[in-house]
Amino acid sequence: MPAHRASSATLAGAYPFLVPPPCDIGVPVGQDALTGGPFCFDPWALYSAGDLTNPNLLLAGVIGQGKSALAKSLAMRSITAGRAVYVPGDPKGEWAPVAQAAGGTVVRLGTGLPARLNPLDAPDGPEPHGPRIRLLAAVAALTVHRELAAAEHGALDAALASAERRSTPTIGDVLDALASPDATSARADGVRIEDRSADGRDLAHGLRRLVRGDLAGLFDGPSTERLDPRAPMVVLDLSRLGSDEDALALAMTCASAWLEGALLASTAKRWVIYDEAWRVLRHVALVRRMQSQWKLSRAHGIANLMVLHRLSDLDAIGQHGSEARSLAQGLLADCSTRVIYRQESDQLSGTASALGLTRPERDLLPVLPRGTGLWKMPHRTHVVHHVLHPAEVDVVDTDSAMRDHTEPHER
Ligand SMILES: Nc1ncnc2c1ncn2[C@@H]1O[C@H](COP(=O)(O)OP(=O)(O)OP(=O)(O)O)[C@@H](O)[C@H]1O
Ligand SMILES: [Mg+2]
Repeated sequence: MPAHRASSATLAGAYPFLVPPPCDIGVPVGQDALTGGPFCFDPWALYSAGDLTNPNLLLAGVIGQGKSALAKSLAMRSITAGRAVYVPGDPKGEWAPVAQAAGGTVVRLGTGLPARLNPLDAPDGPEPHGPRIRLLAAVAALTVHRELAAAEHGALDAALASAERRSTPTIGDVLDALASPDATSARADGVRIEDRSADGRDLAHGLRRLVRGDLAGLFDGPSTERLDPRAPMVVLDLSRLGSDEDALALAMTCASAWLEGALLASTAKRWVIYDEAWRVLRHVALVRRMQSQWKLSRAHGIANLMVLHRLSDLDAIGQHGSEARSLAQGLLADCSTRVIYRQESDQLSGTASALGLTRPERDLLPVLPRGTGLWKMPHRTHVVHHVLHPAEVDVVDTDSAMRDHTEPHER
């Protein structure tokens, strides 16, 4: 075949890997696989330089490829550069060693453990009712597994207002108020008292799970923990909740309220890391809260990092054309950095069209080795091998259980 000649400008269009100047602002991540040079990343610096349209990062890849290891390295290295990190839910319990290494704190939530979170612990402020009812409505929607009807929302709002006669109400107080609604407030809302009771009945059944059911002892008393806005890293370890998806979603909903409270008191630039995000994306109420927080992220100096297995995790949410689906797609649109680790071959065309990948980029995805990813930013693409520092290796190791369970004769 005759050799093909073209100017570097033409080649750059055909093979974009060759073009970008080195990404050398921020904390070191690893080695640019095409140039051999170092690759650094800092979403705040790149945003200020106009290279990113928002600081959020989406990280997708099949299991065991090093997604969590990358998130953990970024977290630890960013802390040494003066950033803070918040992990609002760690379902596998693999972030505690990272927090310990970084001088952060770990809050462990689970049946039989002493920690409790009160979802009605509203952030300090002159008007706590607004944030409280938004959170309570999200919690109630999670317990009844559906959206609340307008009349139910009215009943919940009135019950919370009655419960707020105490300084810090609990879910138990709201349950009492749902069972015996306040006649004066029902009359003021133009609702018959028996209708108000009926409107609150389903919600009471749902919320009762948090007080007397399988989730008792986690969310039904005054909070024992406070999020310290000055801690370099805070991890909410949810591994003791096991595979209970409802408890996980509830804990993360409460954790999101903590975040809102802490933001008011803090000016630090902060990573908020949703490892295993595909598990929480199943809950529409939680996705809605995440999305509204992401909208405020830039104003508060927050960079969100969301870890998925594949982009089609976002298509598994709600029905086609539903609010839930568009919320999930909105999260993807709100991540101007997309890091793709190895993908299964059935994911290639969907990933390529969602991210606008070129043919060479797409062909790379099924053959990427562990720790190597395609970094897509608005005006640049890099293939980066994440290099672990020897001091990080033990902290990010999630394979030890596999190795420790190996029988001696198998070694
Ligand atoms: N860049 C790297 N260099 C060497 N080893 C790595 C690298 N990245 C990850 N590993 C190792 O690979 C193993 C799996 O990594 P990790 O837990 O981060 O994968 P994951 O993609 O998050 O998997 P899962 O989808 O199951 O959560 C870990 O034990 C880690 O030490
Ligand atoms: Mg992981």
